[in-house]
Amino acid sequence: MEVVITSSPDEIAQLAADAVQRLIESTDRPVLGLATGSSPLSTYRELIERHRDGRLTFARTSAFLLDEYVGLPPGHPAAYRTFIEHEFAEHVDLPDDALYGPDGCSDDLAHESVAYEQQIASAGGIDLQLLGVGSDGHIGFNEPASSLGSRTRLKTLTDATRADNARFFGDDVDAVPRHVLTQGVGTILEAGHLLLLAAGESKAGPIALAIEGPVTAMVPASALQLHPHATVIIDEPAAQALGHADYYREAFANKPPWQHI
Ligand code: GLP
Repeated sequence: MEVVITSSPDEIAQLAADAVQRLIESTDRPVLGLATGSSPLSTYRELIERHRDGRLTFARTSAFLLDEYVGLPPGHPAAYRTFIEHEFAEHVDLPDDALYGPDGCSDDLAHESVAYEQQIASAGGIDLQLLGVGSDGHIGFNEPASSLGSRTRLKTLTDATRADNARFFGDDVDAVPRHVLTQGVGTILEAGHLLLLAAGESKAGPIALAIEGPVTAMVPASALQLHPHATVIIDEPAAQALGHADYYREAFANKPPWQHI
């Protein structure tokens, strides 16, 4: 795992956008995995800016959502598809039919989960998966105790995650659905490159556990330790509980120029 400690959230966005751009420029049919939440927002803004400047096209790209709430009707402002459309997709030239997400309104959620896995496989798998981390160490909506081999499926959110996400529902925790569909930890681990982004002091605990703690289903983000190409890009406040921060800084500063993130 590579840990990159940056001096600002803006640098996180620059580095993450560089990785996305390199993928797009080096691949015929790039496949992105898109996360919601605050963490990837500045990266989406940077990608949009590069697109507007004519530096980046998403015309050959397809994109898969990490997760979705169950039961929110299409177009609901807090639905993850709506979030990704508003914050990213509708500002770039990603083809309309190239944004995939699990249908949280399906009347057969088990079948929908399997079908979503098949859609990812048919696209050739996800090349680069953007990730954030929840305060309890979740990735996607894989809450603690999620199997490290899990696939896309229905999950029940913890009360803590529902409280964290109430800000997207007018601060009404009761409006946050209890159930979600999420790519599993095993699904996420099959992406070619995992890019976990985190900024701010509130991420320091889960980041330290994910990087330096044991691999455990109780901290689903610790599964990144099993992946051959996982990069964690964080700012100083999110790095403050790491025991080996000096080493990560030194390794990044002395990286051979030919070796990208
Ligand atoms: C939600 C999403 C996760 C995201 C997490 C953290 O639970 N399902 O994918 O990583 O929130 O969000 P934020 O980046 O806003 O802290």
